[in-house]
Amino acid sequence: MDVFAGNSRNADTDLVIVGVFEGQTSSLAAWSTATKAETDRATASKEFSGKLYETFITPLIEGGFRAGRLAVVGLGEQGDFTVDRARRVATAIGLTARQKKIARIAFTADGGLDSPEMIRALAEGLTLAEFDAGRYKTSGYEPFELRALGIIVSERSKVAAEEAVRRGRIIGAHCNMARDLDNEPANALTPTVFAERLADIARGWGLAADVLDHSELERLGMGMLLGVGRGSAEPPRLVAIRYEPAGAPQSPVLGLVGKGITFDTGGISIKPAADMDRMKDDMAGGAAVACAMCAMAELKAPIRVIGVIPIAENMPGGRAIRPGDVLKSASGKTVEVINTDAEGRLILGDALWYAQQLGATHLVDIATLTGAIGVALGKITTGLFGTPPAFVEHVRGVAEQAGDRCWPMPLFEEYKDLLRSEIADMLNTGGRMSGAITASLFLREFTGGLPWIHLDIAGTAWTDDNKPFMPKGPTGVGVRTLVELAFTSNAWSGFGK
Ligand code: BES
Ligand code: MN
Ligand code: ZN
Repeated sequence: MDVFAGNSRNADTDLVIVGVFEGQTSSLAAWSTATKAETDRATASKEFSGKLYETFITPLIEGGFRAGRLAVVGLGEQGDFTVDRARRVATAIGLTARQKKIARIAFTADGGLDSPEMIRALAEGLTLAEFDAGRYKTSGYEPFELRALGIIVSERSKVAAEEAVRRGRIIGAHCNMARDLDNEPANALTPTVFAERLADIARGWGLAADVLDHSELERLGMGMLLGVGRGSAEPPRLVAIRYEPAGAPQSPVLGLVGKGITFDTGGISIKPAADMDRMKDDMAGGAAVACAMCAMAELKAPIRVIGVIPIAENMPGGRAIRPGDVLKSASGKTVEVINTDAEGRLILGDALWYAQQLGATHLVDIATLTGAIGVALGKITTGLFGTPPAFVEHVRGVAEQAGDRCWPMPLFEEYKDLLRSEIADMLNTGGRMSGAITASLFLREFTGGLPWIHLDIAGTAWTDDNKPFMPKGPTGVGVRTLVELAFTSNAWSGFGK
C-alpha cells in the first residue's frame, strides 16, 4: 500500500477519496475548484450530505490531478466518529470502487483522520475490501481486483503514517486469510487438510508448528477431542503453534485456543437440515488464532504466544459417541455427554489443558460455541466471558477499537448447578436456558484457575446479509483483537500473579 505525502494532486492513483462529516459539506468547496460545481450541485440537491457510507463520485478534469476521479464519502456525525467507523468507511468505499471497476484508489487522511490510529484503520479497511469469495465459481464470475491502494497524508505525518499503514495492511491481510479458510467447504477442508494448512501458513511466517495425530492425542489422553472425532471417517488433529521471539520475557505466555470443528452435523444429536451448511465455519475460532499469530510474527509482537487448535469433524458415524456416554478428559475430569451437539466445549476443554502443558500463563479462547449467544446478543456483538473482571474489561476495550465489538456476560456460580451429573464430574450441557453461560462455565473447569477470556463468536463469525462495510459471509472476527492483545501485555500480564 502506498503512502502519498503532500498534495493529493500528485497522488499516482485513479480515484482520490475524501471523507466528509455529516452537515459539513462546505469543507468540499475549499477542497478543489476542479470539482466545485459538481459537489455544490450534489450537496444542494442532497444527493450527498455526509451521512455514513454515502458516496458521491465525480470526475477531476482540471486542477492538475493525476487521478481522474474524486470520491466523496460520508463519515456520519463528527461526534459519533470512531476508529472503527474509519475502518468501515474505508472498506465501504473500497468495495464500491471494486464494483465500479476502479483498480487504483487512495484515501485522503486529513482533518480528523490524520492520527496514526485512524491511518492504520483506513489501511485495514481498504485491505478488508480486497477479500473475494468466488474461488469455486467457474462461470459468470469476473473477480475485479483492487490493484493499488494508497493513503494520502501530509508531509508532516509521513513517517508515522508509513508505519501505521504497514500495520493496518498486515492485520487486514491476515483477517482476509481467516475469512478464506472460513469459506472453505468441509469436503475440501477436512481435519487433516485444515491442520496441515494451519501448520503450513504458520511455518511460512517463521513460527514453530506441530500437528498431533490420532496416536499422539491418545498418548496425551485427550478423551474429549477423540470422543468428538470418533463419529467421522476423518481422524481428529490438534495443531500447536509457538511464537517465541528472541529476547521476549519468560512470562507472560499468552495461550490462544481456537475451536476447529471443520463441520458440525451435531453428531448423533443431529441438527435439523435448514442452514446446516453454515456449520462449515465452525472452525472460525481456530482460523482466527492461527492467522492472528502469523500477523503477530510479521509485526514482531514482543511476547511469547502459544496457539492450540483442536480439530475434528462432528459426524454421526457408526463409531460416534452417544448421548449418555462418559468421556475422560486429558485433565482427568470426566464428562457425561448428554448432547453430542455440544462438541465445541469438549474439544476446547482438552485444548485449554494442553495450552497449560505448553506453558501458557494467560488463556484466551475463541469459538463458534453456542446458538444461545446469538439469541442473547444477535449478530452484532461477540459474547465476552472470563476472569478476572479487569482482564475482561481490557479485552472489551481492545476489541472495541479493533472493530470486534463484544460485551461482558456473567458467570455466577449458581449457573453451575445446571451442569451437575449423577454419574460423572459434570454434564456437557446445561440445557437451553442460559446456554452460552453454562458453556463458558464448562470451559472454566479446564482453565486451571489461570486468567482466562472466552469469546463466543457463534453470532458474529458470519453475516447473512450484505452490509456496506461487510459482504455476506465470513467476517474474520477476533483476528484483530487477538493481535492487539499481544501488543498490550503491560495491561494484563499482572493478572493472576
Ligand atoms: N457450532 C454450534 C454453535 C453454533 C450455532 C454456531 C449457530 C454458529 C451458529 C455448537 O457446536 C452447537 O451446536 N451448540 C449447541 C449447544 C447445545 C446443544 C447445548 C447449540 O447452540 O444449539
Ligand atoms: Mn454443535
Ligand atoms: Zn459446533
